[in-house]
Amino acid sequence: MNMRRLALLAICLIAMPFVADAQRSEQLLVRGWRFTREDSADFKNVGYDDSAWQEVVVPHDWAIYGPFSIHNDQQNVAITQDGQHEAMEHAGRTGGLPFVGVGWYRLDFEIEDFDEGRCATLIFDGAMSQARVYVNGVEVGFWPYGYNSFHFDVTPYVREGVNELAVRLENENDSSRWYPGAGLYRNVHLVLTDEVHVPVWGTQLTTPTVTEDYAKVVLRTKVTMPEGVKREKCRILTTINDPDGRVVATAEGLLSRYETDLFEQSIDIADPLLWSVDEPRLYSASSQIFVGEELRDQYTTRFGIRTLEIIPDKGMFLNGEPTKFKGVCNHHDLGPLGAAVNEAAIRRQIRIMKDMGCNAIRTSHNMPAPELVEACDEMGMMLMVESFDEWRTAKVKNGYHKYFDEWAERDLVNLIHHYRNNPSVVMWCIGNEVPDQGDVIWGAKLSRMLQDICHREDPTRLVTQGMDQPHNVVHNNMAAVMDVAGFNYRPHRYPDNYLRLPQQIILGSETASTVSSRGIYKFPVERRSMQKYADHHSSSYDVEHCGWSNLPEDDWIWHDDFEWCIGEFVWTGFDYLGEPTPYYTDWPSHSSLFGIVDLAGLPKDRYYLYRSHWNREAETLHILPHWNWEGREGEVTPIFVYTNYPKAELFINGVSQGVRCKDMSVTAENTMDKEESATSFTRQSRYRLMWMDTVYEPGEVKVVAYDVEGNPVAERTMVTAGKPHHIELEADRDVIKADASDLSFITVRVVDKDGNLCPNASHRISYRVSGEGFYRAGANGSTVSTELFHVPEMEVFSGMMTAIVQSTDTSGEITLTATAKGLKPAKIVVKTE
Ligand code: GAL
Repeated sequence: MNMRRLALLAICLIAMPFVADAQRSEQLLVRGWRFTREDSADFKNVGYDDSAWQEVVVPHDWAIYGPFSIHNDQQNVAITQDGQHEAMEHAGRTGGLPFVGVGWYRLDFEIEDFDEGRCATLIFDGAMSQARVYVNGVEVGFWPYGYNSFHFDVTPYVREGVNELAVRLENENDSSRWYPGAGLYRNVHLVLTDEVHVPVWGTQLTTPTVTEDYAKVVLRTKVTMPEGVKREKCRILTTINDPDGRVVATAEGLLSRYETDLFEQSIDIADPLLWSVDEPRLYSASSQIFVGEELRDQYTTRFGIRTLEIIPDKGMFLNGEPTKFKGVCNHHDLGPLGAAVNEAAIRRQIRIMKDMGCNAIRTSHNMPAPELVEACDEMGMMLMVESFDEWRTAKVKNGYHKYFDEWAERDLVNLIHHYRNNPSVVMWCIGNEVPDQGDVIWGAKLSRMLQDICHREDPTRLVTQGMDQPHNVVHNNMAAVMDVAGFNYRPHRYPDNYLRLPQQIILGSETASTVSSRGIYKFPVERRSMQKYADHHSSSYDVEHCGWSNLPEDDWIWHDDFEWCIGEFVWTGFDYLGEPTPYYTDWPSHSSLFGIVDLAGLPKDRYYLYRSHWNREAETLHILPHWNWEGREGEVTPIFVYTNYPKAELFINGVSQGVRCKDMSVTAENTMDKEESATSFTRQSRYRLMWMDTVYEPGEVKVVAYDVEGNPVAERTMVTAGKPHHIELEADRDVIKADASDLSFITVRVVDKDGNLCPNASHRISYRVSGEGFYRAGANGSTVSTELFHVPEMEVFSGMMTAIVQSTDTSGEITLTATAKGLKPAKIVVKTE
């Protein structure tokens, strides 16, 4: 043991969120880790000298530091679900980042007072992938699926004093359809308890009765104890605190005579305060476990009280209120941070989605990080929590199908035990477009088996899956088996599916897959499918989609017009690394174009389109495209306005271009013709205001919005920007925590002398950070940029980018200075406390 590392460890223990009392302590293992990309069986050995390895902080994604290359996980395949018949070289399918291969992590950690009668558990929130965990040279467990949380009882292998933990991870090539990340990308916890204790995820809390007057809470608490402890002396005392921390109930209980490791308590709460998206009110149940008079463990379960019902033909009801999913699918990566989990980054994503009016996230296509689930509980966001992208049949050569038969049940059980008490979780999703849909024998049986596991472990939530082969799943009973039939794309099939299926409810489990690049507009403005351009971008007029998909309004109209359509999950809320459809073979192109928001977290135009429809409380009045079209003078340059108002008038340099109204005569019913609606803007005319014949001339574009009575109620102007003049910096949060992990996201704009965004600027900006923080990463949202995220220098894309600074654990100020050739520099100060 090296002294420098012990010192480091001591610092890290002080800085970590630390839950401790005499009985139970929980600690995150964050600092002091060593890491290598080499591989040797010796790395697990006690006393192995790892001093030459890289020092890293966990969560850590080894692949996000690049470099990007077409050769990283180059997949020569036919993506059959995308309609490809012959193998082709897929360039950026998994992001072009070096995640394939082996990585080892080692950490010395100290346990004080580990007497007889103490227990130690390691919890991994997720490790990518095929984790083999060694404690003091002994293998304590293996967990192949990189997205799941798992835990090992390491009591027999640890000792008082310094212990050595080693983890070997390995990612195979052709194992993913997107960028999975690599390494210990989620947190690792060390939990120390008494031998009499509540095991990991050992409580199950349900609210079987919820009325205005009272809610019945049933708390089932598992308890682990060695032979010889007198079970009849074992007692639980539970205190319920309301959202303001007031004690509202207490209950005491004994072990049942028959179930000797389970307490079951039924507790009534008067006048319950419900959890909802708008008011995410959280209660807690804190339990103390006694043997005789001796307190042996304390365990807190946070929960919410709410109801969620789906009624055939009528729709979904949250706390009795008709509710549709205004949802997005998100992958787990956090853009420039890669897969390395970060609470501030997750909460920023939720804030951005909530402002858009989004009320739900689908964790496509795998288990979420606990930080996401907790944030959704606290911030008011429903979650549809998903487990698998593959069952028995392969999508990729080395995908989950290799593990399905042996691991699927264990993976589902961990997932459900982990999150079944979280009120934000409203539904389980057992799969995404699994190729087993085509299996006449096994499609329905596997669906039923997985759904049964969900029901067994959590009888309170409905189960769905995302299916993209409507014909097959309706005919092989797979769709009929599900509590809720979820369909990916093909909304024109909804009426037929609805008629044939017993549930009389249709969920748009995955929708849209519209593609666009922030600030890039293509002419002429036409609806296009799988359109490619030489610059590898897609048009931000929001008129382009994939062969299997459509534009946002082609989904909205179903959910607006039919009660049995319970809403949708748009593919995707944020751009993610990998899957740069339609640029399958075109390098460089390393991230998706599907996002409503780009990889840098900057809203594309589409964001305002969804906001105009989903967020009924806030005003949206957004004009596109930008108005800097040097060289297009005199050419037709259509203008779209996204607004929650019913009509508006447009002016170019003071000249009216006419009034446009949302055409409410357009319905799902009268636009059923698939061909017509797939090639025209008919449905779009109900939701967006379009001036298709406007001609570009530099100057000012103004829009005046009118209410239903025709009164002018709001107005916006946009001008042709002058020459790039200076840099503008704006922080999402200007005070952050001095906890060595909080982040401030700084939006960087290149603007003219009057502060107008220069939409074609591509200046290279260099950053300097001083004070109590450091430059964590940056991103510009361009799918073709191979600049490395962590290097404090990057070109802006369409005039903008995001720079991210991270705090240290000392409070003070972080100063970020941005400079670029030809621009006045800028400086911003973020406080940390
Ligand atoms: C779906 C799939 C997603 C993503 C999307 C792109 O079929 O479920 O994972 O690939 O297509 O449009």
